[in-house]
Amino acid sequence: MAFLQVVKLAFALLALTTPSWAVGVAPGQIKNFVTFGDSYTDSSYYPTADGGYAWPTWAAMYGDLNLYGFARSGATCSNLLTYRPFPPIMGWQLPAYLNETRNGTLELNPDETIYTIWIGTNDLGVNALLTGSDAPDTSIVQVRQCTVDVLKILYESGARNFIMQNILPLDLTILYSNYSYPNRYWDLERNTTGWNVYMKELVRAGNEITSLMLEALVPALPGAHIASFDSYGLFTDMYNNPQNYFNGTAPYNVTGCINSCVHTMNSTAAPTCTVANGTDADSFLWYDELHPSQQSDRIVAREMTAVMMGEDNQWTTWLS
Ligand SMILES: *[C@@H]1O[C@H](CO)[C@@H](O)[C@H](O)[C@H]1NC(C)=O
Ligand SMILES: *[C@@H]1O[C@H](CO)[C@@H](O)[C@H](O)[C@H]1NC(C)=O
Ligand SMILES: *[C@@H]1O[C@H](CO)[C@@H](O)[C@H](O)[C@H]1NC(C)=O
Ligand SMILES: *[C@@H]1O[C@H](CO)[C@@H](O)[C@H](O)[C@H]1NC(C)=O
Ligand SMILES: *[C@@H]1O[C@H](CO)[C@@H](O)[C@H](O)[C@H]1NC(C)=O
Ligand SMILES: *[C@@H]1O[C@H](CO)[C@@H](O)[C@H](O)[C@H]1NC(C)=O
Ligand SMILES: *[C@@H]1O[C@H](CO)[C@@H](O)[C@H](O)[C@H]1NC(C)=O
Ligand SMILES: *[C@@H]1O[C@H](CO)[C@@H](O)[C@H](O)[C@H]1NC(C)=O
Repeated sequence: MAFLQVVKLAFALLALTTPSWAVGVAPGQIKNFVTFGDSYTDSSYYPTADGGYAWPTWAAMYGDLNLYGFARSGATCSNLLTYRPFPPIMGWQLPAYLNETRNGTLELNPDETIYTIWIGTNDLGVNALLTGSDAPDTSIVQVRQCTVDVLKILYESGARNFIMQNILPLDLTILYSNYSYPNRYWDLERNTTGWNVYMKELVRAGNEITSLMLEALVPALPGAHIASFDSYGLFTDMYNNPQNYFNGTAPYNVTGCINSCVHTMNSTAAPTCTVANGTDADSFLWYDELHPSQQSDRIVAREMTAVMMGEDNQWTTWLS
């Protein structure tokens, strides 16, 4: 056997006997997942802001996994950076998780548990970075540093397996499109082209910053398994190739939404709503002007479940 092959074999054997050195999680290893995030991930009520189940509820079913959902609608990473009157990860979700871990409510074996973090929608959006955070020094840089800090704090508390989900292309939602209309999330005057251009920049820069920060952090977290899940790529592909994802009975629809309500500018007058019903709904990328549809959530769940099950996944890179 050539020297190089012997070395390769030695490393392969080492990887088998010391799983914490291997990249990624092994099939069958993960039994629990703990979520942090916003309405895209909030599984604590029904119907969710996505008009049904949140993706973790689907994933728990698909993978037969135990779900511990700490994500909450409206959340940002930290209210000290971008204030919104909802339970942020830093000020509420993480403390709640750490409390329950310390006081024995939650006893999760770190090897069998994976932690998911998907945040940014509200941090980047209206009443936050897009329209100006009320903390004047805040920029996209701190907001994404916060996201990476969440992972680090979890690691320090004993967590070892992680999936960081990057921000989906928010500029493709109706709220932030250049063809937007006054809606439930924003009914004041605005420059829709300007918002669309700025949001595209925030998302792309935010994702790149996160990615660089995460890669820099990896060597400082020995024994951790960190996956980077490309929500941006997945939703862009759903937008560009709807025929590969959507199976409803209406024509594919990636520019409208299942529950579309056109408001009158700065008025309390009743909005004009258009609702897609029954099997038509599964033709849509978006549920409303900001949230993914149930079929989009099932796709996210399918892909995330594959990662948690230790399978190869085209949207995922294991960094450690
Ligand atoms: C965590 O526990 C501390 C101390 O018991 C308490 O003050 C705090 O409200 C708890 N936080 C949450 C989110 O439950
Ligand atoms: C543990 O902490 C959680 C979150 O703060 C709290 O809701 C729960 O009541 C606590 N349980 C015990 C047994 O102290
Ligand atoms: C939105 O932007 C696209 C791409 O730049 C352009 O083709 C389209 O005409 C714009 N639509 C509106 C309503 O401004
Ligand atoms: C809207 O924003 C775009 C892009 O920033 C800019 O080119 C355009 O002049 C703005 N329109 C108005 C009416 O301010
Ligand atoms: C997509 O859905 C919207 C409703 O939000 C509707 O107005 C539009 O005509 C639909 N587009 C297509 C291509 O069916
Ligand atoms: C919206 O309407 C209220 C009165 O109904 C007015 O005070 C306010 O200035 C308006 N805001 C904008 C941005 O037009
Ligand atoms: C969907 O159902 C609602 C309530 O029954 C109805 O008002 C609406 O017209 C239906 N939408 C379509 C596209 O048929
Ligand atoms: C579309 O596919 C999903 C599985 O991805 C399934 O749960 C759903 O029922 C399907 N929708 C329709 C309208 O057949």
